[in-house]
Amino acid sequence: MRRKGGKIVKKILCFGSLNIDYTYRVPHFVSKGETLAASSLTLFSGGKGLNQAIALAKAGAPVYMAGAIGQDGLFLVEQLAGAGVDVSFVSVRTDVRTGNAIIQNDDAGDNCILLYGGANRSITRAQVDEVLAHFSAGDFLLLQNEINELGYIIEQAHACGMRIIFNPSPMENDLLTLPLKQVDCFLVNEKEAAQLLQKATIEPADTEKQCMLLAQKFENAMVVLTLGENGAMLAKNKEIFFQPAYRVETVDTTGAGDTFSGFLIAGLLYGLSIQEALRQAAAASAIAVTRPGAAMSIPGQDEVADFLRERK
Ligand code: RIB
Repeated sequence: MRRKGGKIVKKILCFGSLNIDYTYRVPHFVSKGETLAASSLTLFSGGKGLNQAIALAKAGAPVYMAGAIGQDGLFLVEQLAGAGVDVSFVSVRTDVRTGNAIIQNDDAGDNCILLYGGANRSITRAQVDEVLAHFSAGDFLLLQNEINELGYIIEQAHACGMRIIFNPSPMENDLLTLPLKQVDCFLVNEKEAAQLLQKATIEPADTEKQCMLLAQKFENAMVVLTLGENGAMLAKNKEIFFQPAYRVETVDTTGAGDTFSGFLIAGLLYGLSIQEALRQAAAASAIAVTRPGAAMSIPGQDEVADFLRERK
């Protein structure tokens, strides 16, 4: 437990993926049967777990990363540590390679991603038990859907009284079989929200209603619904808050959602009001989309403060 500005802050454990992102710049996304030349290839640090842990640390939160890499991913651990993340719980495997993502980044800054789980899918129950033994009631656990053993992690963390924040991304129908009633906060986009509600899609005019429906379905949870360029909304205790997105020049949207999540969680834990925390998160993700890469694009607290001052 640490103290910040007179407020006690519990530990945050991010149990998630660490990826090497192979990012290809393309004029458009490659389609079936097509061979397309990329104008550049850059290797970035990524993985939703790593990105969100770095965003939390850059927003000033005490964050611990747990996960697994192969020998080829040691630079990811250095990047996490450099950003202030505690990396004691990242295992280095000798028999499997680090997870990776093949990312196509087009001229509009949009992306499409092919994931290979690698070491991210080698989490064992023994590792989960070992890691969770260092955390206790009131500490926070942040999860995404890029590692295996999610059900076991949720059950064990809930049993020891941790507060669970879940970003079910990338979404799969199998996730509906997880003990989701034990989740305290969902971070979802429209597609993920639709799948959690078992609906085909959510119409733009319907987002507020769907956000509330999700909060009703998981009645003990706070729901954060991100809407890309249309901003974000948060439902808590039957109240709904809305935050528009800031308009910026888009270079690469990879990791923008992770940046939003990290800054939002840190803001809420450090006692910002919901509206202030949403504003800080929107500013951080707006800065992130103006830069290439995932983890590398995440701004520091000072940059976020400057950005917000300029827009007052
Ligand atoms: O959210 C962005 C991340 O998704 C990328 O860094 C990539 O690794 C994939 O996990």
